[in-house]
Amino acid sequence: MEGPRIEVIGLGKSYAGVTALDGVNLRLGGGGVLAVLGHNGAGKTTLLDILSTRTLPSTGTATVCGYDVVRKPRSVRRRVGVTGQSVAVDDTLSARGNLVLIARLLGARPAAARARAGELIDTFDLADAADRPARTYSGGMRRRLDLAAGLVGDPDVLFLDEPTTGLDPVSRNGLWEIVGRLAENGTTVLLSTQYLEEADRLADEIVVLGMGRVVASGTPDQLKAGIGRRTVTMSFADADTARDAAFVLNNSGMEPLHDQANRTVTAPLHAAGDLADFIRSLDRLEIGIGELTVAEPTLDDVYLALHRTGWRTP
Ligand SMILES: Nc1ncnc2c1ncn2[C@@H]1O[C@H](COP(=O)(O)OP(=O)(O)O)[C@@H](O)[C@H]1O
Ligand SMILES: [Mg+2]
Repeated sequence: MEGPRIEVIGLGKSYAGVTALDGVNLRLGGGGVLAVLGHNGAGKTTLLDILSTRTLPSTGTATVCGYDVVRKPRSVRRRVGVTGQSVAVDDTLSARGNLVLIARLLGARPAAARARAGELIDTFDLADAADRPARTYSGGMRRRLDLAAGLVGDPDVLFLDEPTTGLDPVSRNGLWEIVGRLAENGTTVLLSTQYLEEADRLADEIVVLGMGRVVASGTPDQLKAGIGRRTVTMSFADADTARDAAFVLNNSGMEPLHDQANRTVTAPLHAAGDLADFIRSLDRLEIGIGELTVAEPTLDDVYLALHRTGWRTP
């Protein structure tokens, strides 16, 4: 397929008095995972609903697999799979019942529908519960069934709206593995999440949404580098030395954080020479440093920094 898998230009959506999306642009070339990261109310579900043709935009355009979501919704729907917050799997049906029904709705003949359901039940480790009503499933099983339901039509693009919200860590890891495999096999995955860790772990690219706008975007590494907040942590022989070190650094205009219990001092590194300056000012007073570690910024730092600046792009 030529052209980008997903292209969004100037997308806006207003509900009576509420602006859910405001001039969103994004572009996703080939396969891989794009994470849309944002708090509750940021506009994630609205964006995914527009891209999967369940809501109309108020302004702007969006294409998925080259098809305009407003003018060619059926062509879009044939190529995408959707799972998430507002997509219903029928609780009274079993996993098999749901998957067969969806396959039939997508036009498969009965035998082919049963075969596809069987494949997905195996892939998603649902065999033991395949013929029980979905309402008896655990949270993790239910989420795997949701995901399987979105994949019945073997879509090019998969939309996942907060796929791991509320899941326990084991189920979450299981889901991450599945999503990673799908992306490796060429499916384009666009997922929304409130979890930095999830975006960092899964995404090739991240778009940070805040109040309906894209406030930052890039690879996880680019986002971290843009904030550039490396930190150094130094440990000291005893609590008094650590306190003295924090005092000295503070007097030098730095911003140390003193952890009394662990006898450590942590400080942000703003410029290239900061680390050498720290060491020199402690050395002058013959304060010996024990261990010294430098930590790269995490997405949490990015998120917090964006939040502090009122969602201005860095
Ligand atoms: N059907 C609707 N009617 C009115 N306001 C809505 C509707 N859907 C979403 N909103 C509002 O749009 C904003 C974005 O919501 P949403 O896309 O659900 O965000 P998210 O998924 O990131 O939590 C919120 O302020 C929400 O209250
Ligand atoms: Mg949502």
